[in-house]
Amino acid sequence: MRQSSLVVVANRLPLDDNAAPDGACEWRRNPGGLASALHAILAPTPATWVGWAGGVGRAPALPDVGSLRLRPVSLTEDDLRGYYEGFANSTLWPLYHDAVQQPVFQRDWWETYRTVNQRFADAAAEVAEEGAAVWVQDYHLQLVPRMLRDLRPDLLIGFFMHVPFPPPELFMQLPRRVELLRGMLGADLVGFQREQAAHNFAQLARKLLGAEATDQTVAIDGRTVRTGAFPISIDVAEMRALVTRPDVVSQAKQLRHDLGQPKRVLLSVDRLDYTKGIEHRLTAYSELLRDGYVKVRDTVMVQVAVPSRERVESYQELRDRIEGEVGRINGEYGRVGEPAIHYLNQPFGRAQLAALYQTADVMVVTPLRDGMNLVAKEFVAAREDGSGALVLSEFAGSAAELEQAFLVNPHDVDGLKETLLRAMQADRADLAARMAAMRRHLAGHDILVWARAYLSALDDTGHLATLTG
Ligand code: UDP
Ligand code: G6P
Repeated sequence: MRQSSLVVVANRLPLDDNAAPDGACEWRRNPGGLASALHAILAPTPATWVGWAGGVGRAPALPDVGSLRLRPVSLTEDDLRGYYEGFANSTLWPLYHDAVQQPVFQRDWWETYRTVNQRFADAAAEVAEEGAAVWVQDYHLQLVPRMLRDLRPDLLIGFFMHVPFPPPELFMQLPRRVELLRGMLGADLVGFQREQAAHNFAQLARKLLGAEATDQTVAIDGRTVRTGAFPISIDVAEMRALVTRPDVVSQAKQLRHDLGQPKRVLLSVDRLDYTKGIEHRLTAYSELLRDGYVKVRDTVMVQVAVPSRERVESYQELRDRIEGEVGRINGEYGRVGEPAIHYLNQPFGRAQLAALYQTADVMVVTPLRDGMNLVAKEFVAAREDGSGALVLSEFAGSAAELEQAFLVNPHDVDGLKETLLRAMQADRADLAARMAAMRRHLAGHDILVWARAYLSALDDTGHLATLTG
């Protein structure tokens, strides 16, 4: 393996596993924020990405994608259960999202999480050239920064948490809280989506480790670890290019036609995840139908719910509940050829998503907690003509930036109903002013701005930031 001066380490490789065996590698646009965001900056950059290619057993040898080298890490069936489905997605994920689903603490998962983290650290240590920067991503790999520092003290190590970092009262529940915190503190720079997360981190470093910590630095083991907020964003130029493509424009028109040319289209796009507030949204919509505020004749709702983490029980249960509820709503309020909700349990590609975003009048994004939520930003970037309304949960990281959205507390179903109606009934001038302000913000805060901000904070010589073009 050749060595690289920028190494990204993430649980997943951004590669479609189906495309791998015949060598025809395509970027995997994994329906998830991390792959979407990093794809934009890394495709043209000489770098190595260390990650899992999906599946179990020996990892395939993968050809480069452009100037990006892929270094797969293999997982066994036991690893998948203990590390990915277990500790990462049944313990950390729910706990970090305000415990909206009860976190599971199963003791034997920890050892697997630790072993797999070590495997990622070993792989990164092997491919990083002398003095390289290694950028570790997300909650799956919280132990990697420290492991890597032990192996390769010459490296510049960054860590970025894509999901929320919880307040002390939640984090303190974790049986392995000290190891997790110390793991992250192996980095030179620990980045979060929001200031509040950096604040929580500092409080925990003081409380659990007795470290001297502010919202910007943590002093530990004779080193100073920097921390800060770097709100992630999207590839605005890519979305703009997509929505002006003639085939996407005609796909959007066709979609509207296929939906029966309704007066109004409401759209939601989520991974099928209990953090996304899909059930709260369905309750609100169903009550609007029940009370006659919305008629299937002139309004349709499209819910894209991409399959996600399907072997985890809480996800299976959620899917059953959602599909039951969609069936009930369609049974009660739909008409022949006119369902109240178009429910799509399948992933969509970039062009199809762009067409959907263009088709919608009201984008409904109601997570109970979300690190950022890129879908909300993508919708705004897709509205070249400045039309459309965005209903956005206050509990999504993106709400701090998209202040002109119709902000809502999704737990308050009455408030949600009222906000949906306000968004549906808003006049054009109001919508245009809101959209213009949000588009201006996004134009100045796209994915490249995020990557450069993070990488130049990691390496104040400015060398790394220039790698992103
Ligand atoms: N996405 C996709 N295909 C789909 C649904 C979603 O590529 O069918 C992408 C979407 O465009 C966005 C990402 O997946 O870039 C989801 O990121 P977000 O931050 O909204 O939520 P996450 O899934 O990371 O929790
Ligand atoms: C979120 C996480 C990512 C993850 C993505 C999709 O965005 O922050 O790390 O990749 O969800 O989830 P999955 O379990 O399919 O990787």
